[in-house]
Amino acid sequence: MDNKSLVSIDDYTKEEILEVLARAAEFEKNPNCNLLEGKVVASLFFEPSTRTRLSFETAISRMGGKIVGFTDSSSSSVTKGETLKDTTKMVSNYCDLVVMRHPIEGSARYASEVSDVPVINAGDGANQHPTQTMLDLYSIYKTQGTLENLNIFMVGDLKYGRTVHSLLMAMSHFNPTFHFIAPKELEIPLAYKIFMNKNNINYHEHTEFNDIINDADILYMTRVQRERFADPLEYEKVKNVYILKNDMLENTRDNLRILHPLPRVNEIAVDVDENPKAYYFQQALNGVYARQAIIAKALDL
Ligand code: CP
Repeated sequence: MDNKSLVSIDDYTKEEILEVLARAAEFEKNPNCNLLEGKVVASLFFEPSTRTRLSFETAISRMGGKIVGFTDSSSSSVTKGETLKDTTKMVSNYCDLVVMRHPIEGSARYASEVSDVPVINAGDGANQHPTQTMLDLYSIYKTQGTLENLNIFMVGDLKYGRTVHSLLMAMSHFNPTFHFIAPKELEIPLAYKIFMNKNNINYHEHTEFNDIINDADILYMTRVQRERFADPLEYEKVKNVYILKNDMLENTRDNLRILHPLPRVNEIAVDVDENPKAYYFQQALNGVYARQAIIAKALDL
């Protein structure tokens, strides 16, 4: 495995996280540069994406690099039976960096083991989404002025939501208190509870979504991940379980910011969009700067 790959957020130490965030701030001030001149990045999306793919492509374009790849594996030789190993190995011969999204958990780790160039995980199944985490951390830092000692409330699909899993691991460096709000069927997986217990992270679990959010610094809303359910009836039972409405924000803290990795389905009512505490669209823009910083680190630029 190339040790410059970013497969899981715990591939970065706390110091590396802070270094990437500082670099993202530099890219935000000056996004256009020629750091990737002469470099080719392969963008392999085996699963749909809007923000991750387009913000990576924007980041690469702003840095002067070229992009090859596919946005739909049905247009690749995967349809002829080519394995992930062969696809990755071969594509890594063409480029300097691979960015990959794949529906199977562990696929990014596997790709990083067979690739001759660094691999950046753009989301592997319900497992990890480390580049989303870096933009989430950047958004939290920008809006709160610190990452330390924050009350973070995570709401919705905490079982399949890979952004939740990566973010809670990253925040463990910064003494957070977590409140997890989810129905029993979508509660935070045991492996992450064990992780938090081992790392002395305070966390509380709730099933009710009400004025407990009044103590939140960050309210991290998530979509129920329909595509991860084996049984559509199970999805139907939980799909509308929590909807954030504007009047629920009346007594919340002034510094509260609402994040969402997007796409949104119906878990945030559209009237929240005009509330100054809504930050999800700016959060998506921050993805360009965070991904520029991640690319620069992966390529030692
Ligand atoms: N947040 C996120 O991963 O969005 P996309 O699925 O559109 O890339």
